[in-house]
Amino acid sequence: MDERPERPRVWVSRPTFADVIARLEPHCDVVAEPAEVKFAPAELAAKLAACDAAIVGLKERIGAAEVAGARRLRIVANLAVGYDNLDVPALSAAGIVVTNTADVLNESVADFAWALLLGAARRMTAAERWLRAGHWHATEFTAWLGLDLRERTLGIFGMGRIGQAIARRAGGFGLRVIYHNRRRLPPELERTCCDAIWVTREALLAEADFLVLALPLTPQTRHAIGAAELSRMKPSAVLVNVARGGIVDDAALAAALADGRLAAAGLDVFEGEPNLHPALLALDNVVLCPHIASATHGTRRAMTALAVTNVLAFFGHGEHAGRPPNVVNPEVLARLRAAKPA
Ligand code: GLV
Repeated sequence: MDERPERPRVWVSRPTFADVIARLEPHCDVVAEPAEVKFAPAELAAKLAACDAAIVGLKERIGAAEVAGARRLRIVANLAVGYDNLDVPALSAAGIVVTNTADVLNESVADFAWALLLGAARRMTAAERWLRAGHWHATEFTAWLGLDLRERTLGIFGMGRIGQAIARRAGGFGLRVIYHNRRRLPPELERTCCDAIWVTREALLAEADFLVLALPLTPQTRHAIGAAELSRMKPSAVLVNVARGGIVDDAALAAALADGRLAAAGLDVFEGEPNLHPALLALDNVVLCPHIASATHGTRRAMTALAVTNVLAFFGHGEHAGRPPNVVNPEVLARLRAAKPA
């Protein structure tokens, strides 16, 4: 589609699998950052101004100001399924195609949601801290009691493909599944999701013994779980967030956990990460992880490969030539195509 004779220049903002990135090299000039750097907005703008394509991560927050001088930039390939780090309307207005890495991480993220749920329900990380601190001389029979899963209710807020993958795993634990999503799933899909039942948001909050968040962060979902929502949950409930920081009001969550208004939480994502609300760090009834739900060897490689495929396809190479598989703003691609038919 892009017929400029010169090789496109691709900027890769963070170190990732070099052998996967090397797939770009027959067709593109690649500049890959050798270390994780949090670029200041002006540095980021300068990097973007010097490339035709950028493969970026969540730490790159890109909006109108960052692309104002990026005259060559045609595609931003996000190394993530969520793209709240990108101002998509601003990038679209600048004629820049945006892609993500949807789907290849569903199963790994679903596994991790269960790891957090179980870890929080069974107090696993607090028990480990206690053990490492040398306290295990004898364990009282009634110490470290946690929560059972069987015959309880798993609530899933956000029933996209990650939510569905989480639901499919519930049968083995003997959990009933309820969910809330803007749109109800077709009944045949609900059946494959452990017979998940659509409920209102209010019912989800009130009935879930384990509430897992798997919805995207948008202006509408910011603080979807705040003090009011937490007050409607059971005091015995466990909250798990593998979605995005900002969906939960972390200050309100820390207060609810501290006051016993919520039993426990398992969190992979935080408001303002990598900085955490200090009150969360002081609590023992929360399992904290540094945004690693998709971090398996296979999945992070697959995410990198998909970003590379999206870029190559945009520039007319590979099996998806001209049709990058994960375009978030297809209207921009269509506009470019209409202006310059392949
Ligand atoms: C990770 O959080 C992602 O959106 O892929």
